[in-house]
Amino acid sequence: MGWLYQHALKPALFRLDPERAHELSVAALAWLGRVRPLCAVLERIHRLDPARHRPVECFGLKFPNAVGLAAGFDKNGHAWPGAAALGFGHVEIGTVTFHAQSGNPRPRAFRYPAGEAVINRMGFNNDGAAALAARLAKLPGPGRRAIPLGINLGKSKVTPLDRATEDYLGSFRLLADHADYLVVNVSSPNTPGLRELQDAAWLKPLLAALVAENGARVAAGQPRRPLLLKIAPDLSFPQIDEVLQVITDLRLDGLIATNTTLARPGFFATVDEAGGLSGAPVRRRSTEIINYIARATNGRLPIIGVGGIMDEAAAGEKLDAGATLVQLYTGLIYRGPFFAAAVAGALSQRQRI
Ligand SMILES: Cc1cc2nc3c(=O)[nH]c(=O)nc-3n(C[C@H](O)[C@H](O)[C@H](O)COP(=O)(O)O)c2cc1C
Repeated sequence: MGWLYQHALKPALFRLDPERAHELSVAALAWLGRVRPLCAVLERIHRLDPARHRPVECFGLKFPNAVGLAAGFDKNGHAWPGAAALGFGHVEIGTVTFHAQSGNPRPRAFRYPAGEAVINRMGFNNDGAAALAARLAKLPGPGRRAIPLGINLGKSKVTPLDRATEDYLGSFRLLADHADYLVVNVSSPNTPGLRELQDAAWLKPLLAALVAENGARVAAGQPRRPLLLKIAPDLSFPQIDEVLQVITDLRLDGLIATNTTLARPGFFATVDEAGGLSGAPVRRRSTEIINYIARATNGRLPIIGVGGIMDEAAAGEKLDAGATLVQLYTGLIYRGPFFAAAVAGALSQRQRI
C-alpha cells in the first residue's frame, strides 16, 4: 500500500491544490467511515494483538496504540469514524471555534516536498461548535467508540482577546459531552493574538474557568473530561516554565507539544509564505520541548508528542523524550493513509508484554 501511495495516489494528489487534495482525503475517509463492514475488516487488520500488546493508558483513557491523528485534518468531525480503520489509536478533531468562520482567503496551504513540509494559514475555518455538537450527537459517544476522540478548541476570530474565556467556555459546554478529552489550543499562529493566551496572565484565568466548568460537570453528575493544553514550538524554555507552573497549579491533565512553527529554519529562510510550518523541519524542536517538559515535571505530566513524525524513528524519539502518545498530520500527506498503522506497529514492538 505504501508503494501504491508513493507511485500512484501521491503524484495524483500532489498535482492538485493542497486544500483540494485535503478535501478529497477528508471525503474519502468520511466515506470509509460509513462503510462499516470495510472498516471492521481494516480495523481487525491493524489491531495490535491484545495478547502481546497492552493498550496505552493516559489521563484515565485507554488507547489501542500510541499514534493519533493530529488536529487540523478533520476540523468539522466528518472523517473520524474511519480513522481506526487506518490504524490510528485516537483522533483529535477541530480546531473548532464557538462561532462558525470561513478562515483566511485561499490559497492558504502550501506543500514543500523537498523539505517534507507544509506551511498553512488556514485560520480555523470550521462550522462552529454548535454544528459540530449536532453532528457528534448522531454518532456513538464516549466509551462507545473504537478509539478515543479528542476535541480541540480555539478562539473565534471575532472574539477579542479579553473575551476569550467566554468563547472557549461556550465551546466547552457544547462539546464536553461528546469528547473523550478536550484540548485548549492557544498555539495556532493563524489567529491574530491567539498565541498571547500562552502568557500566564491570560492563560491562568482561561484555564481556571475551564477547570471550574469541568468541576461543575462532576457536581451535576456528568463525567469530568481530561483537559489538555496545546503549545507552540516557538516558546522559550522560561516561557514553558511559566506555562508549566499554571498547568500544574490547576492540575491540567496533560500537554500537547507542539503546534506548527513560525520559525523558518534552513531552506525555509527564503520561503516567503506566512503561516505555520509543519513536517520534517519541526521535528527536532518539538522533541526538544517534549524532553524539556518531561524533565521539568519528572515525567509526571502526560505529554502527547507531535511535530515532524515522518518515519518510525521520529515517533520513537518522541516517546524516548518523554511523550506517552504521539500524533501526526504532515506525515499522512507525505507517507499515505496507512502510515499511522506502520508507526503504531513499530512503536508497539518497544512495549511488548
Ligand atoms: C494544514 C494544517 C492544518 C492544521 N490545523 C490545526 C488546527 O486547526 N488546530 C491545531 O491545533 N493544529 C493544527 N495543525 C497542527 C497539527 O495538528 C500539528 O500540531 C503540526 O502540524 C505538527 O505536526 P506534523 O508535523 O505531524 O504535521 C495543522 C497542521 C496543518 C499541516
